[in-house]
Amino acid sequence: MGYLTTDKKKVTVKTILAMKTASEKIAQLTAYDYTTARILDEAGVDSILIGDSASNVMNGNFDTLPITVDEMIYHARAVAKACSHALVVCDMPFGSYQISKEEAIRNAIRIMKETGVDAVKLEGGIEIVDTVKGIVDAGIPVEGHLGLTPQSVHKLGGYGVRATEEAEAEKLIADAKALDEVGVFAITLEKVPASLAARVTKEVKAATIGIGAGNGTDGQVLVYADALGMTESFKPKFLRQFADVKQCMMDGVHKYIRCVKNESFPSKEESY
Ligand code: KIV
Repeated sequence: MGYLTTDKKKVTVKTILAMKTASEKIAQLTAYDYTTARILDEAGVDSILIGDSASNVMNGNFDTLPITVDEMIYHARAVAKACSHALVVCDMPFGSYQISKEEAIRNAIRIMKETGVDAVKLEGGIEIVDTVKGIVDAGIPVEGHLGLTPQSVHKLGGYGVRATEEAEAEKLIADAKALDEVGVFAITLEKVPASLAARVTKEVKAATIGIGAGNGTDGQVLVYADALGMTESFKPKFLRQFADVKQCMMDGVHKYIRCVKNESFPSKEESY
């Protein structure tokens, strides 16, 4: 950890912006439950995102579209309780901010009131900039999300790399600047060329957090279950596996089954 985060004080949006200024990289991971979030927070991650990837990771859905505001609140409340250090950001799920600005502000306020998170995240650019401004004006920090925006998977036609063509790259830069102007503190850049992500990073005040966006962003985010080796079938090019938690759990579970079957568990010492 760098000098801004060694004292384990609570990370705020101000800290995130100061880290960008100081060129200290920001490490964000997702979490969806209390126990995992406690471990990530104790390990010193700068920010925890309750991603709507909870829809896939926690609920086994095919995409992020089905998860509801109520379900996000359930996950976010558990994560927020666990964190004394990390900045906690909650995704606004599909359908919670697209209908009207008023409904979006109402849902953002509900998420803040009922969970204790520090900020919300929304997918989209110029189309939702007025809504983002409304949420920021209500006093709620917002992280934007550009490039591959999984809530629009059906419109995009899949999970491929975005903004490889000039027109889409120019639109992404305009989107990032529009979000920056209304005061987002960070922008997730998902699955875009590294050179484009680096350019956006230089052109906005907000901190950029990349996933599949190369090393020129202000920080990185990964889904914790992917990063720690719990989802072996998901192997995109951008993913690095930092641990083999699945194997570790398998070993422990095999040991447990063996000890139950051979009656060595529980022992006398483990009995009353
Ligand atoms: O939902 C999520 O986990 C995300 C990250 C992958 C950026 O949005």
